[in-house]
Amino acid sequence: MSPKVTILYDTIRWEEKALLEAGKKKNIDIQMVDCKKLAINLEKKPEDYGIVIQRCVSYYRNLHSTAALEGLGVKVINCLNTGIFAGNKLFTHMLLKKSGVPTPDATVAFSKESALETLESQGYPRVIKPTVGSWGRLISKLNDKDSAEGIIESRENMYPIYQVHYLEEFVARPPRDIRAIMVGDKIVAAIYRNSENWKTNMALGGVAEPCPITSEMEEMCIKAKHAVQGDIVGVDLMESNDKGLVVHEVNNTTEYKNTVRVCEVDIPALMLDYALNLKQ
Ligand SMILES: Nc1ncnc2c1ncn2[C@@H]1O[C@H](COP(=O)(O)OP(=O)(O)O)[C@@H](O)[C@H]1O
Ligand SMILES: [Mg+2]
Repeated sequence: MSPKVTILYDTIRWEEKALLEAGKKKNIDIQMVDCKKLAINLEKKPEDYGIVIQRCVSYYRNLHSTAALEGLGVKVINCLNTGIFAGNKLFTHMLLKKSGVPTPDATVAFSKESALETLESQGYPRVIKPTVGSWGRLISKLNDKDSAEGIIESRENMYPIYQVHYLEEFVARPPRDIRAIMVGDKIVAAIYRNSENWKTNMALGGVAEPCPITSEMEEMCIKAKHAVQGDIVGVDLMESNDKGLVVHEVNNTTEYKNTVRVCEVDIPALMLDYALNLKQ
């Protein structure tokens, strides 16, 4: 029998296991495919994958396997454009602004000199982020000129993507942010991520707690999801002291383990329902 849904992964995390379990409970024929074992002949009709839920952790593997499958006519959640747009904080920033979604002010600088000049004129602290990245990695708070010089100089010696200096205002807010999981045009659950670390990522020790979903938040998240052409996404928001809610990131391969745990919402089951409804 051909699979109805394929989970494409490169690492099996709690999220992928939970999708498989939810499929078993619902009697859905689910195929687990390890992307590392995959070679996709781009000149041939693809195998039958049903709908693919893209779960690869590796940015490049994720993007390129989506491009190959989608190019061959396979429906992938999320689509290639979402991988490109949401996978890059600068691209996301531009699209959020175009869609009228509040987001932290940012500047992009293309050399150490222009980055330092910008910082001098805009003032400290600022946040520097790789345009592509996750789990808070290589994101730094630049408190003064000395730390900025050192951090930017080390980036000048890294892979070219790190030489695009994406600088954000440091948003004054409570010691938490919000992760809202969107399945289609609905926030199915949201959490506060409380942390003593200014980077509140769960991977860095953030503590999850259920977050009430407001209509303002939902409207903003729907716009953010559409801005990156997403189907199932995790929207990260902050409660800025002076601007109110701002969206700082949209995750196209979102983690949801802690959201399921604290909100007791069966997100994997909702994801599968959504994927199967798309096919009809
Ligand atoms: N401009 C900012 N001001 C204050 N805190 C920020 C800012 N940007 C990010 N953070 C904190 O850092 C965390 C990681 O940033 P994010 O842009 O989501 O990158 P990643 O893709 O690595 O998760 C956020 O969840 C938030 O807690
Ligand atoms: Mg994030």
